[in-house]
Amino acid sequence: MYKYRVSIIGLGYVGLTTAVALASRGFNVIGIDANSMKVEKINNGELPFYEPGLRDLLIKVLDKKRFHATTDYKEILNTNITFICVGTPSLPDGRIDLSQIVSATKSLGNVLRKKNDIHFVVVKSTVIPGTTRNVVGKILVNNYGKRLGENLGLCMNPEFLREGTALYDTFNPGRVVIGEYDKKSGDILENLWRTFYRANQPPILRTSLEAAEMIKYASNAFLATKISFANTIANICQHIPNCDVLEVLRGVGLDHRINPAFLGPGLGFGGSCFPKDVKALISFSKDIGYEPILLEATLKVNEEQPYKAIELAKKHYNSLKGLRVTVLGLAFKPNTDDMRGAVSIKIINKLLEEGAKVVVHDPKAVANARKIFSDKIEYASDVYNALKGADLVIIVTEWDEYKKLTPSVFKTYMRRAVIIDGRRIYNPQTFRNEGISFYAIGLSEGT
Ligand code: UDX
Repeated sequence: MYKYRVSIIGLGYVGLTTAVALASRGFNVIGIDANSMKVEKINNGELPFYEPGLRDLLIKVLDKKRFHATTDYKEILNTNITFICVGTPSLPDGRIDLSQIVSATKSLGNVLRKKNDIHFVVVKSTVIPGTTRNVVGKILVNNYGKRLGENLGLCMNPEFLREGTALYDTFNPGRVVIGEYDKKSGDILENLWRTFYRANQPPILRTSLEAAEMIKYASNAFLATKISFANTIANICQHIPNCDVLEVLRGVGLDHRINPAFLGPGLGFGGSCFPKDVKALISFSKDIGYEPILLEATLKVNEEQPYKAIELAKKHYNSLKGLRVTVLGLAFKPNTDDMRGAVSIKIINKLLEEGAKVVVHDPKAVANARKIFSDKIEYASDVYNALKGADLVIIVTEWDEYKKLTPSVFKTYMRRAVIIDGRRIYNPQTFRNEGISFYAIGLSEGT
């Protein structure tokens, strides 16, 4: 039986979650990151971001000495399989920035140069088709004398975990995709995951390197398109008397060919993946000569969707100037402190532009919001203070804490109880029966 010793380069959401999960199932794992402050934090049992359950597991694997973080690439020589999990952000033109992939591969090549027995390299970062073979593989072969299929194995293993449920998704994936340079590399990686999943084996799909890279983009593009489709239907329903998009999409989602997942209407998708990955796929597609109009429409719908909150507000107030507006929820979705690509940013900027006084609340993301808005907005310590004296409230992120709020809370604390439900978390009738002016995405007048 192959004795796996794992190293993981890049300790962001994907890298750190994968490292901690593998270590928790008995693998010896080394995490490498260029940021020494982050490394120190992790070794002290602290997370560089908020993710439910991850900190407890990190502390356990550190205690058991199954995992530690380092900035020293030389420690890779104590391992035989390396996952590359560095970031692939967007360049201003939407293409992906491969600079972290290139520098991680070079640093890896530098230490592997001295190694004679086989080392397996697995790309987990989201990369456009061809990158694993033509960037990572080529650098290791051309610059560092490695021989693919001899002393170098190569795989592409896309990651599908969601922030906020990262550990659950890692232990219970819908599928594991293994793109392989050769059978030997694929066998080694398949065996690692089969050992990891024990009694809970997911389907494992073996493909070419390029197909694996494309599966990740196609999956994210499809889910993003499903959301933009739901929002398109919502925006149409908004103009149909007596029509609530939630009833419509419930009826649509019951068709098993469609299914209800990611058919939730709202203020649009944010995050570090969907916007970036759809943009990267569009640029890549154009570069190879195909104009992906469907994906362009997905993005266009999403770019405009946050402003539906402002349109609804203006149905009630002609002008927002001087009004005190509460924004509930800043993170791009619940259970994270991540504000990358969050729709709250667009909404707050627009409210400020309209002359509103903005007060915000979020259970986790306030520190990140301060970095963006500093003293341009007010940060409330709890929901009740956020609502105090407000003329309008916009629900931007559907945290459980907000779902529990009753009509009387809004009536008691707000100056004027006007609600824009941007995530469809409340029952419109219950709120309207209490005399609240209630507006929501995809809810026409009369419903
Ligand atoms: C996503 C993919 O789901 C995951 O497989 C991939 O690995 C990374 O990108 P993530 O960005 O963490 O994960 O969050 P996700 O739960 O997919 O939500 C993305 C955005 O879509 C959020 O802003 C969310 O509010 C929005 N969304 C989701 C909707 O607007 N409607 C829905 O029905 C579902």
